[in-house]
Amino acid sequence: MLLVGPEDDFNIKIARGLGLKLVPLERRIFPDGEICPRVQKEVRGSDVVLSLRMKSGVGRPNDYLLEVLFTLRNLKRHMGAGDIVLIMPYFPYARQDAIFRIGEPLSPSYLAEMLEDAGASSIVSVTVHLHRLGSFSEIFKKIKATNLSGFKALSESIKRLPLQDPFIIGPDTESIHWARELAQFCGIGEYDAFRKERDIETGDIRTYIKEIDLKNRDVIVVDDMVSTGGTMANAVAAAKEMGARLVISAFVHPILVPGSVEKILGAGADIIIATDTIEWGGSKASVTGDIIDTLRGG
Ligand code: R5P
Repeated sequence: MLLVGPEDDFNIKIARGLGLKLVPLERRIFPDGEICPRVQKEVRGSDVVLSLRMKSGVGRPNDYLLEVLFTLRNLKRHMGAGDIVLIMPYFPYARQDAIFRIGEPLSPSYLAEMLEDAGASSIVSVTVHLHRLGSFSEIFKKIKATNLSGFKALSESIKRLPLQDPFIIGPDTESIHWARELAQFCGIGEYDAFRKERDIETGDIRTYIKEIDLKNRDVIVVDDMVSTGGTMANAVAAAKEMGARLVISAFVHPILVPGSVEKILGAGADIIIATDTIEWGGSKASVTGDIIDTLRGG
């Protein structure tokens, strides 16, 4: 078996952990934005682990998905690969897990079909945002799909901090699941969630706080992902206004469109902790260990 993917720290760690040779994937982009991912060595006859991460910033999900689809198809159709285990640490389009307005697509299901058709034999992802569509494995009809928790990796970084009277809070009702998960991994007894409303047309966010005593406590605001930073920044600002001593902004997927980090810091966050499911220079936690353990376990 070989590991195909960009030759970065993330893939070097996974290849080492699994004892696999890394076949570099070149990510070429033409001036007009077309992409040409190139597998740089022969893989004929070998089973492959294809490990590819999205880059943080605006407009990346579509480039990323086409890169994954082209590489899968190429490995299968022209390069003679055997089975392909796809590591896709961030699964884009998962927030469109329902047809919210008539005429919208059910994007995660369509994407699952496309990945199956392109040649993936199984897929491993991390904290997939599916609240309304059942589980990650249910959206794949033909292949095995594994959804790992990114909160374990976050908890390992958080546990290293000398926290005083910690409290975990999610920025919206849905995030109570993430708050609970992180609390369990950290061994922190208290968690809750604010309530948020987002205008479906304009995207404007309003956060409703709860009467929780956060005075002089160290507060971890947790979410699965941060894109514009609006949701996180509102919750961070609320925690500060409620008297928190230290506010840590913790999230699994750093999508982080330009300006988002500044927004979160500007709202009063003292520390930002995110994992490396997306390529971002500031990641302080790594999901590679959990991916290695899962793949070792078959
Ligand atoms: C929403 O359901 C997600 O869990 C995140 O809270 C949301 O995607 C964050 O988006 P933004 O950073 O743009 O507020």
